[in-house]
Amino acid sequence: MSEVLSESPIYPPKENVKPISQISSLDEYKNLYNFSINHPEEFWAEQAKRLTWFHPWENVLDDDFSEADVAWFSGGKLNVSHNCIDRHLKDKAEKIALIWETDEPGEAKTYTYSQLKHEVCRIANVLKASGVKKGDCVCLYMPMMPELVFSMLACARIGAIHSVVFAGFSAESLRDRIIDCGCKVIVTANESKRGGRCYPLKNIVDKAIQGLTLVEKVFVAKRTLTEIEMQPGRDLWLHEEVQKERRSCPAEWMSSEDPLFILYTSGSTGKPKGLMHTQAGYLLYASMTFEYVFNYHPKDIYFCAADIGWITGHTYLVYGPLSVGATTVLFESTPLYPDPGRYWEVIEKHKVNIFYTSPTAIRAVARFGKDYPAKYDLSSLRVLGSVGEPINPEAWKWFYETIGRGECTLVDTWWQTETGGIMITPLPGVTDMKPGSATLPFFGVNPCLVDDNGLELTENNTNGNLCIKKPWPGMARSIYGDHQRYVETYFTQYPGLYFTGDGCKRDEDGFYWISGRIDDVINVSGHRLGTAEIESSLTSNPLVAEAAVIGIPHQIKGMGICAFIVPSVEASSFSVDEISGTIKQQLRNDIGAFALPDQLQIVKGLPKTRSGKIMRRILRQIAIGEHEDLGNLSTLAEPNVVDDLIKQLKTR
Ligand code: PRX
Repeated sequence: MSEVLSESPIYPPKENVKPISQISSLDEYKNLYNFSINHPEEFWAEQAKRLTWFHPWENVLDDDFSEADVAWFSGGKLNVSHNCIDRHLKDKAEKIALIWETDEPGEAKTYTYSQLKHEVCRIANVLKASGVKKGDCVCLYMPMMPELVFSMLACARIGAIHSVVFAGFSAESLRDRIIDCGCKVIVTANESKRGGRCYPLKNIVDKAIQGLTLVEKVFVAKRTLTEIEMQPGRDLWLHEEVQKERRSCPAEWMSSEDPLFILYTSGSTGKPKGLMHTQAGYLLYASMTFEYVFNYHPKDIYFCAADIGWITGHTYLVYGPLSVGATTVLFESTPLYPDPGRYWEVIEKHKVNIFYTSPTAIRAVARFGKDYPAKYDLSSLRVLGSVGEPINPEAWKWFYETIGRGECTLVDTWWQTETGGIMITPLPGVTDMKPGSATLPFFGVNPCLVDDNGLELTENNTNGNLCIKKPWPGMARSIYGDHQRYVETYFTQYPGLYFTGDGCKRDEDGFYWISGRIDDVINVSGHRLGTAEIESSLTSNPLVAEAAVIGIPHQIKGMGICAFIVPSVEASSFSVDEISGTIKQQLRNDIGAFALPDQLQIVKGLPKTRSGKIMRRILRQIAIGEHEDLGNLSTLAEPNVVDDLIKQLKTR
């Protein structure tokens, strides 16, 4: 292990960013880092000056971390939308806040901070007029269009909690999420546009809320010219409603620990969890990490290619950049539309300085070689970022050399929906870069590795389960409506520690190398999917008797989904194609097209222990063709199943 790591190349910090780095040297980083860990209250009290407070906070931290009970800046009052808009109006009213790069190239639209305020306030007034009050939850099921950003900030302005549901989720998934947080109001669009195709968002909403008396109002943004059915009394066009409203709306005074948003993510068991983030700590953490990790400067154009339906879009497309008054690009399309040069075209056109994307997207475009990037002027780029999954060294090098011309800092940022913001990352001009390593912790973040018994592994050159020892302001505070589940999921496996669910190595320099999930979560293209969630959809189909889902390496997506199905007796009159067609449709309906398996294996039986537990380790080895040495099979209930499986898969 140590040999492999010591062979990994080291890229020293880029000289060009040193003079403009927030932190000037590794020593300065270490000193400030140690201070942030040893004196967290002093450190974060100083940082809290970044935010504009309506009323000062009293306590920096009320900490009962081991009980998962943490409050930051209690007693303080502020408003997130005020921090992201109003406070910039004095000197940045005409600065561009948002550049909307639409699906069709050449149709970009911009909004200044002053326009942003008007748009946000009008939607805030629309929501208020429809009865939304402080503490109510509003569901946003929308394309990557400005109205989504406006609606998030409108909720924040009036103290409503937003729950953005990724627009790729099916009606069934959307329905679950609407019910879980009791949304009476939904904001959606008639259609979404992506990669030259239109998707019927409003139809999906209609299906999701059929028979749900809970939902009182559906506001529909007009993204395309396609006509849709509007249910009188319930559905209203957003563009018509905003016309009726004033362009100002007072910003509600929110307590630091009031909820800001709920975002659902998959876990290893049960239904998706609605992680709840609160106001002050989240915004402060988003703001500070944004500035330091991306070496942000006021004239920079910043482009985060993530979808707002996931946490990266929340923190680093909307809240982080807007809190510091940055210009942020909202990208509606895909990296491959109309051709694999689309990212580079956007970067050239808007003179982007900071570009943040995922390893999946990098691999997807790298397949097409250097010709596409070569057509564009990428010299404006200074910092590149990667997030969502481990980045393989080949993709890292391609990004660094082909896109960054070897002149940019590449920050591989590790974090999670639960952490709210970046936790482990290089800092431009400060940290050595090692392809594949997220390197060192951010200020205030105290990671540790533990063995399976929870014993801390203090030496370097070691592998373990990644935990965090102390609270940080950006951490999620709860699972909405189920605090017990929050405690059990994150704080009980290793008492006193937050368990991330990731495996990790720490090398001889103390650099962290995240190896990926060690629970039953698959990270597909940087999107988390629980195997239990997919299996429960599969087994709800009458043609399926049993199902097991595992993650397998995938060249582009990082991890792919492999589903093993044992058909039911009822399936005997159907062909294999019919069974797989039905199953895929089921997954589309229950979760969304992005949960379709890359491999669907219809098999006679699954390897199980005598107590009936499916042995996924064996399935994983068979799926990737490593079945020569399957280890100890003595606990298997029916050892023949394994031979059958190998034979069956070999003959395909
Ligand atoms: O396994 C880690 C992986 O993504 C998981 C978090 O997924 P999610 O909550 O959807 O948030 C993704 C965007 C922040 C982590 O538990 N992950 C995220 N970033 C990295 C990563 N794995 C390795 N390296 C990263 N830079």
